[in-house]
Amino acid sequence: MSPYKYSTLAVHAGQHPDPLTGAVNVPIYLSSTFELTGIGSDRGWDYSRAGNPTRDRLETALAALEGGTSGHAFTTGMAAISALVTMLRAGDHVVCSRDVYAGTVRLFDQIVSGYGIEIEYVDTSDLKAVEAAMKPNTKLVHIETPSNPLMVLTDIAAISKIAHAHGAEVSVDNTFLSPALQSPLALGADIVMHSTTKYLNGHSDGLGGALIGSKPEHKDRFLLVQKAAGGVMSPFECFLVLRGIKTLPLRVKQHEENGRAVAEFLSTHPKVTKLAYPGLKSHPQYDLAVKQQKGFGSMMSFELKSREEAARFLTAIKIFLNAESLGGVESLASHSATTTHGSVSEEVRRSMGINEGRIRLSIGIEDKEDLIADLDQALAAV
Ligand SMILES: Cc1ncc(COP(=O)(O)O)c(C=O)c1O
Repeated sequence: MSPYKYSTLAVHAGQHPDPLTGAVNVPIYLSSTFELTGIGSDRGWDYSRAGNPTRDRLETALAALEGGTSGHAFTTGMAAISALVTMLRAGDHVVCSRDVYAGTVRLFDQIVSGYGIEIEYVDTSDLKAVEAAMKPNTKLVHIETPSNPLMVLTDIAAISKIAHAHGAEVSVDNTFLSPALQSPLALGADIVMHSTTKYLNGHSDGLGGALIGSKPEHKDRFLLVQKAAGGVMSPFECFLVLRGIKTLPLRVKQHEENGRAVAEFLSTHPKVTKLAYPGLKSHPQYDLAVKQQKGFGSMMSFELKSREEAARFLTAIKIFLNAESLGGVESLASHSATTTHGSVSEEVRRSMGINEGRIRLSIGIEDKEDLIADLDQALAAV
């Protein structure tokens, strides 16, 4: 356990001055290979796929921020999930939140299931359904909370108890809240996964992913996957994430203040039919959000009446950008049915409750008055 509080950790964990020069920023070690000191001896690094000094610093920072024992950085969030599933074997069963990022579903259904691994999608907000889905061969329960785009919460502590009682591990995609607002390992989960592309980088200028483990076997496994399968984050991307992490707590405060203000505005707007934001008392899982999260975050989604209304809204926005992704300093709006859930059939989307008028917002750090005025004028154009 670190003696330091969160903002101090964000600035300093893994980010001590360079021992050679005293540079206060972690240098970008653009070297694929490292001079050995003899046969079978080195200075800690031999080849950058296996380990790189810049990546090591980021991995130290990620482990510290999530309270884990090891961090592992990959090229993208999807590469991190791909590394996670290498823990599984043919014949294993996985319980996965029904309402996960559609890219995760694509990976599971079109690639992982081809290896003889059974993936079962369950509404993980329903603990009884999770209990009922557990089988003797269930090895992993993979959850995303809050979910995308419906902001449904899963009780991490309760799911961890159920999974552990059945000998399974729990992995949590913590991308939507970032380590600043949710600590899955402290709630009992075993592994945390991130798309660092989002809040950790925070500036929409790089792709990356991470796994944070809590046991020595996670470290051994993920180090092996990095070395054996590759897919590691480049030193330059590592530097960008390290830089982003220094301001993560500050950014998240502003993201969240704006998120609350926007949600309150939308909650009374006559053209908004449904609004999903865990920070509203009307959210059915508000109490769980208060219990397991350190804040409500800045992701939300709402519904307009039709695809046409959604199209008019997205054409009218001026500050918000009509773009996929989230967690950057700029505010984004996206049409869920054709972006994040474009690869999901209409029938499945409907059954999930993602209708053609659903818009997801990632609230940035601009002035909240400007954001609300922009939404107001765009809704007037609907
Ligand atoms: C919740 C979540 N998990 C994982 C991913 C995949 O991350 P990446 O795009 O870095 O591969 C995304 C991307 O949008 C995401 O939103």
